[in-house]
Order: sequence, then C-alpha cells, then structure tokens
Amino acid sequence: MDQLNAPLWEALQQHRSHSKGNFHVPGHKAGQVFDHAAYPCFSELLSLDLTEIGQLDDLHAPTGVIYEAQQLAAEVFAADQTRFLVGGTTSGILASILSTCQPGDKILVSRHCHQSVFHGCWLAGATVIPVAYGLDPQSGLELPTSPEVVKYLLELYSDAKAVVLTSPTYFGVVQYIEQLAEIAHCHGIPLIVDEAHGAHFGFHHELPSRALAQGADIAIQSTHKLLPAMTMSSMLHIKEGLVDVANVDRYLKAIQSSSPSYPLMASLDLARRYMATEGKAQLAKTLEQIAVFRQRLQSISALRELHVKAEMDPYKMTLVSEYYTGYELAERLEEAGIYIELADVEKLLFVFSLGTTQTELDYLWTTLYQCHKSGRAQNKPKLMRPPELRAGEPLPYAECRNDQRLLVPLSQAIGQRSADHLMAYPPGMPLILMGETIQQEIVDYLLLLAHSGGSVRGFVQQDDGSYHVYIFKS
Ligand SMILES: Cc1ncc(COP(=O)(O)O)c(C=O)c1O
Repeated sequence: MDQLNAPLWEALQQHRSHSKGNFHVPGHKAGQVFDHAAYPCFSELLSLDLTEIGQLDDLHAPTGVIYEAQQLAAEVFAADQTRFLVGGTTSGILASILSTCQPGDKILVSRHCHQSVFHGCWLAGATVIPVAYGLDPQSGLELPTSPEVVKYLLELYSDAKAVVLTSPTYFGVVQYIEQLAEIAHCHGIPLIVDEAHGAHFGFHHELPSRALAQGADIAIQSTHKLLPAMTMSSMLHIKEGLVDVANVDRYLKAIQSSSPSYPLMASLDLARRYMATEGKAQLAKTLEQIAVFRQRLQSISALRELHVKAEMDPYKMTLVSEYYTGYELAERLEEAGIYIELADVEKLLFVFSLGTTQTELDYLWTTLYQCHKSGRAQNKPKLMRPPELRAGEPLPYAECRNDQRLLVPLSQAIGQRSADHLMAYPPGMPLILMGETIQQEIVDYLLLLAHSGGSVRGFVQQDDGSYHVYIFKS
C-alpha cells in the first residue's frame, strides 16, 4: 500500500474546496457561525469538522476513505484489522470486553489495569478474576504480571473467556506478553492488551516490540498519548483467529458516537502516515536526546530515576528527589512553566514523545538543577508505598450491578463491600475494586494521597472536608 497517501485527510481537503452550500450538521457550518473571539483559533479545525456526506465515508460502515485509512493503519501497525476510535482507548477496551464476555462469564484481569477495563467488565456483567502483581522492593514500582500466576489462575478458572492486561503500565513497565499469550492460547482464549501507552512500540529497534507482534489478539492503543494524534484518537488492532471481529464492531457501534469527529479520525490517518514516513527518524533523534538528558541528570545527585528489572519504555521517566516530595517538586516545576504527567507523595512521572524538543529538555534540566542546587534533605513525610494487592476473590459484577448503594463515612466503610472503584487519579488503577472489601491499609494510603494534594477517585468529599465512600447495602 502507498503509505504516502492519507485518504481521509485528502477527502476532507477536497470536500472543503468543493463545498458551496452547507445544509447539514454540525451547526457551526464549517465555521460560518462561531464565537467571534475564539474563531481565529478554531477556524481551520472547524472547516474540517464535517459529517458523513459526499466522499467522507462512515466510521460505522466504512467502504471508502475511512476503510482505506484503516487498511493503511493495519499495515503499519502489523495488524490483520484496525479500527479507528474516537472515544479514546476506553471505547476500544469496552467493546473488546463486551464482545468477549456474556453476563457471568469469567475474565482474568491484571490489577495493573486502568479503570476502563473494570468498567468494561462491570458493563458486561462479567466475573472478574483479579490477577495480582508484586512491587519492586527498591523502587516501589509495580512489577510485570507473573506468567506463572496467570497460568495457575487459568487452571483454576478454566472456563475464563479472556486475559486482559496493560502493557506498558503507566510507569512504562512492559509485560511478558509472549509468555502470557502462549498461556492464554493454550486455553483457547484471547489475550487482550491495553497498550494505551505503547502506540510507538515496534517502530525502532530500541523500543519494545508491539503486543500484537508478540502474540496478543487485541491491542488497543491511545495513538493520542505518545504519537502525534489528537486527544481521544485511538486505534484498536486485531489479530484474527480467536477474536469475533464482527462482534467487536457491533459493540463499537453501540459505544461510540454516531457522529464521530472527522478532525480526530483525520489525525489518526495523519499520525499513521507520519509514523510510516518520518516516524523512525524522529524516534531515533528523540531517543538519542532523551538518553543524553538521562546522562546529564546523573549530575544532580539528589535526583534518582526509578527502574524495575524488566523491559521499560524509554519515553517514560519516574524521578524521586531527596529534597522534595513529588507534589512539592511538581509545584516548583509548574512555577517555572513545566507541566508533568503525574506527581504523588514520592515521585514524578515525565512523559516524553516524538514531539519532545531539545530546548524543552535543556530547560527541564536547568530547572531541576536550580531546584536542587541550594536544596537540602528536608524532613520529608514518611513515604508510604502502595500496599501489595492480592489476587482477589472472583468479583461477580452481574450480581452487584443493581445492588443498592449507600454513601457512608470512611470510618464506617472498613470491612464493607465497596460500590465504587477507589484509586489515585492519575494513574487510574483501582486499588480497591468495586465489590471488594474495603481495607484499612489501602484507605490509609489513599487518605495520605488525598491529604497531600493528590486526587482520589471514589472518595466523595463532604462540606466539612471529610470523605465518604459508596458501599453496597448488605
Ligand atoms: C493504562 C491506560 N489504559 C487506558 C486508558 C484510557 O485511554 P483513553 O484516555 O485513550 O480513553 C488510560 C488513560 O489514561 C490509561 O492510562
């Protein structure tokens, strides 16, 4: 296929030059009416914000330019089939799980997974078999899911319909996909990989290879997170065999808007063309710049990068400072105009991409240096590591879907069944899953995060500042 083409983008441009009368939605009529003050900024994008007319095809029944754009993407991402997503990776995860599980079906889900995976299981009424992970004793980062644990759980729950995991994790840890795929396939079930943070994988020899290339059956990627596509633009890649592709499409139709955004879809078409043409060179350039930055960082002795003994994504960097909590250093960086992906009590997560510039890296290094030059080891609060999470009991979401919920003070919730996922956000990995017993140790950890400026989803703050949570009425 000719990867220099961008059929959807080209069709939008042709439409723009041909259109002389606009009698269709959206109401801004390609920008003919819009807020005056914001118009100069929005105008170019509004002219592309069209709908299923002329030669612009239809995402839900593609036969023209969207079909071609998805075919081109499948070739570049080495998939048998690719679907464009306009509801983020979330929509692809929901459709993958809904198409795999009937109510009551069991599904193995790594506890590394983002809330969207657990939401998918909840909507499907599936029974989640949570797969635990360990924490690295030095860094406190999550270790990859153990293939032995998955093997053991699949022997125990041999009627499970799929295995779902996240690779790479938010902090860049890559899972043992090849072994896990082999184990899932021995049981005749698909391995679904949330590859939200790994759309750049496989494009350069210094990067981990793609989940699909290692045997995964479905990989859902947030093209918008690491590649040059607009927010909410993702792709779902499929290896045929164990996946009911028609059923995935059926659920995508149900989940995604019937008015998918053309700017978002065109940005996917263009991100694919970029990766097929200039991507490798840009990866090589930025990988080199980031490697040099990492070396320079060693001259700031109060800063340490966290690693685990597993393959890691070089575009993620997790730092700990001897002088500041994660929140304090993030605040200092913000004062200097530097915004990062995540901070918690202990650490900071930086996300690089093909768009990272040398100027930004130099400025980051200088700012970090300034912050640490005159600093001194502070009385930092005693750091708490996230508690180790066990491989839990099966969670039958079909049974608790309609259970009544009660909002109670945290102190009354200990030992009760949580009616919500409780998690730090970001990263959005539930520490207590809906249906699990609320444990004091995990609540203490989440409270520490909340009190030191972090955002905790699932805690409902009252007017007096105290926190309540939803539990299931027993
Ligand atoms: C690991 C992981 N999976 C899935 C998602 C959801 O992706 P999206 O925002 O593209 O819907 C996120 C979002 O942060 C994530 O971090």
